[in-house]
Amino acid sequence: MANTELTHLDPPHTHLVSAFLAMESPDWLLSLARVCGGGSVTESVQRFIWDHCISKADGNFYRPYLKRFLKKLIAEVESTGAYVLEELYEQYATFMISVKDDDMAKGLSKILKRVSFLFPDDCSKSKKLVVPLQCSLNLLEGDTGCSIWPSSLFLSEFILSFPEIFSGKSCFEVGSGVGLVGICLAHVRASKVTLSDGDLSSLANMRLNLDLNQLNLNIGLLQSTTEVRILVKCKYLPWESASEYELQVIMPDLILGADVIYDPLCIPHLIRVLSIVLSQRKAHSHAPDENSEHLHDEKIADCEEQETLDKHLREFDSMNGMSLCTSDRSSDHCFQASKQGPVAYIASVIRNIDTFNYFLTVAEQADLTVTDLSEKIQVLNLLPYMQSYQRSNVKLFSISYSG
Ligand SMILES: C[S@@+](CC[C@H](N)C(=O)[O-])C[C@H]1O[C@@H](n2cnc3c(N)ncnc32)[C@H](O)[C@@H]1O
Repeated sequence: MANTELTHLDPPHTHLVSAFLAMESPDWLLSLARVCGGGSVTESVQRFIWDHCISKADGNFYRPYLKRFLKKLIAEVESTGAYVLEELYEQYATFMISVKDDDMAKGLSKILKRVSFLFPDDCSKSKKLVVPLQCSLNLLEGDTGCSIWPSSLFLSEFILSFPEIFSGKSCFEVGSGVGLVGICLAHVRASKVTLSDGDLSSLANMRLNLDLNQLNLNIGLLQSTTEVRILVKCKYLPWESASEYELQVIMPDLILGADVIYDPLCIPHLIRVLSIVLSQRKAHSHAPDENSEHLHDEKIADCEEQETLDKHLREFDSMNGMSLCTSDRSSDHCFQASKQGPVAYIASVIRNIDTFNYFLTVAEQADLTVTDLSEKIQVLNLLPYMQSYQRSNVKLFSISYSG
């Protein structure tokens, strides 16, 4: 997580920089640039783009995108007969020589996006949260888990809109993909965050994103001077093969999932996972000293599970010629005794109504109550600059065990 210099800018300029960092389409950037210039891309707007976007783009920035944006920007200014800033021409000329448009075809499919959550003035001391995320240009890479899907943006907005729901809670996410939701949970100080996915390349990418945000697994994050340690753990968890025992030891207060309801073949397995975790009553979870045997078991399970994950990732890395940072094995636990059972919050774009109805049917058979919260709660729009994100398409559901 990083806070960049967006604070002193007015909303149109903040939106322009945020859209650039999130790699929104060049056409959309130009629309935002016109707003900044009162209808056209004036010389001062070009100067702003140079100072705050192009010249600030570090080596991690995807250069074919910069090249495309510059090309469109220069063409737009030239079409109005206005003066084009010399720096923009020079940079574009450099890219013409050094940057090929077919980088993607050469296998360079990962890019670094920065998602800026912009808080309303009266909402928070921190006015924004900028989350760098490595993701794929290919939507299908990592069984779809290497891209940022709209439901995880919405679920993140939900978490940041209602931090009190998640703060101090032990949270578990299924199908976490790039890990954005977990990063937001850490930001609002969930007591424990367990992310999971059934795809190893997504898990490897998720770990890298936790590193980028200084939230890696067992390194933890020391927040401010209060030294609150936030643990973000990655777990290899294919729904089909997850054992009842490994699901039972997680014992979260809250379960999350974004864009995980789309494959009818996976739905019964997903429901099985949800129902095992949701049906855990926490009456039997106590403070660690009263339950040292259970804690001991859980610690052993965590270590074994971590070793298994590391083994899978090592195999995956060696197969793919990658090297990933491995973390130490420390595990810290925070038990939250809760009288009620856990609740799941699932965000979803309903792309196929039959698939979604099938999800509802299987959920009902498993004694799960699914409630549509979409119209009942007001989630803050923290990504107003993101044209590619159609938040109205995303529904939010709560799910609880009623058996
Ligand atoms: C559409 S992506 C959503 C990723 C992320 N939650 C987001 O919204 O950006 C679906 C995710 O679910 C994971 N997934 C799909 N089927 C799964 C299964 N059977 N077991 C575990 N994870 C699965 C995929 O690997 C992928 O990360």
